[in-house]
Amino acid sequence: MRQKNTRDRVVPIQKDATAPRIIKKMYQDLAQNDWGAFTSERSLRVGTDCSGMDAPIVALQQLKIPFSHEFSSEIDQHCVATIRANFAPKVLFGDMTKRRIQDIPDIDLYVCGFPCQPFSMIGKRKGVEDPRGTLFWECLRVIRNKKPMVFVLENVRGLLSIDRGNTFRNIMNALESMQTYRTDWKILNTCDYGIPQSRKRIFIVGIRKDMCRRPLQWPRPVTCAPLEHFVDWRDEGNVKTLPHFVQGTAVFHATQRSVVFVNLSDKHNAHVNADVLCPCLLTCAHNYYCVPMKRYMTPTEMRWLQGFPAGFVDPNSKSRSQQLIANTMSVNVLVFLFKSIAQTLRSDPDED
Ligand SMILES: C[S@@+](CC[C@H](N)C(=O)[O-])C[C@H]1O[C@@H](n2cnc3c(N)ncnc32)[C@H](O)[C@@H]1O
Repeated sequence: MRQKNTRDRVVPIQKDATAPRIIKKMYQDLAQNDWGAFTSERSLRVGTDCSGMDAPIVALQQLKIPFSHEFSSEIDQHCVATIRANFAPKVLFGDMTKRRIQDIPDIDLYVCGFPCQPFSMIGKRKGVEDPRGTLFWECLRVIRNKKPMVFVLENVRGLLSIDRGNTFRNIMNALESMQTYRTDWKILNTCDYGIPQSRKRIFIVGIRKDMCRRPLQWPRPVTCAPLEHFVDWRDEGNVKTLPHFVQGTAVFHATQRSVVFVNLSDKHNAHVNADVLCPCLLTCAHNYYCVPMKRYMTPTEMRWLQGFPAGFVDPNSKSRSQQLIANTMSVNVLVFLFKSIAQTLRSDPDED
């Protein structure tokens, strides 16, 4: 569907950066307070765990939903610095496993992208043997005790297949056995929601049954913005010639006039769609190269490709910020998802 003949297409060189305008316009068109009962007097109380760059908070800001940021948690000091530079959670926990449940504020919306290393297809797939894999049980403890109106859990696709699906089944069984939530899951791809990055992630959504008006309708895909608008044409960077192993591939030759971003660690020569989609941004492969600019991809371009709007403050070094950005949830996916969730909610649990 996304593949097309790219032989005759040449990337138009535009010296302005249009991505921030595209992103801003998309969010403006989606923004309105859909969250029924929540107003500036009674705002949506939000908590995030494994918060990273706190993409869910950025998404709520874009939707202009009145919310109060009750808590975040992070063990990584660079993430902590990023959260502090951009947000003001009432409580910023360190290790989420080392807090008392009574210290966690009450919340209406809970979001956690528990670490994906144990489940990643590119990792060693140790799954629940890896102690980080057990962080799901901490999420469950929060959900059980705090009973938020909505929870959203995010992870890599590999979560579905590890241990022949047993890990995922255990997770879903644990969530469903509470009998408090209508629970659903789906794989969503960043490029289906306006931003040209191929990034498939699993989203598990639970809506408390007393707040649920109808089954969740997952957001419908929209047209993706042109990839060349996500090049920062202003940044000349350090020109660096593309390695021979990429230049030498047949696929690259077929498309080289229009290829935009390539992952140099991708030794399988899979640059097939590289004129329309950026390959999935990964922490273990920060070797992303911007072909028309003959330089490495910049953190600014990575943030745009994760749907972050202009104005996000990044206090980290270039290599560090690349890691954080590659780990984050795509803001655009969350914006669409939160909007769909809002449309399933009753404004009042006693409403007929
Ligand atoms: C996949 S990233 C999630 C990124 C985040 N959802 C975002 O939107 O940017 C996982 C994060 O969990 C953090 N983490 C790992 N173990 C943790 C723990 N025990 N308590 C709190 N945070 C933890 C890591 O430092 C990492 O930033």
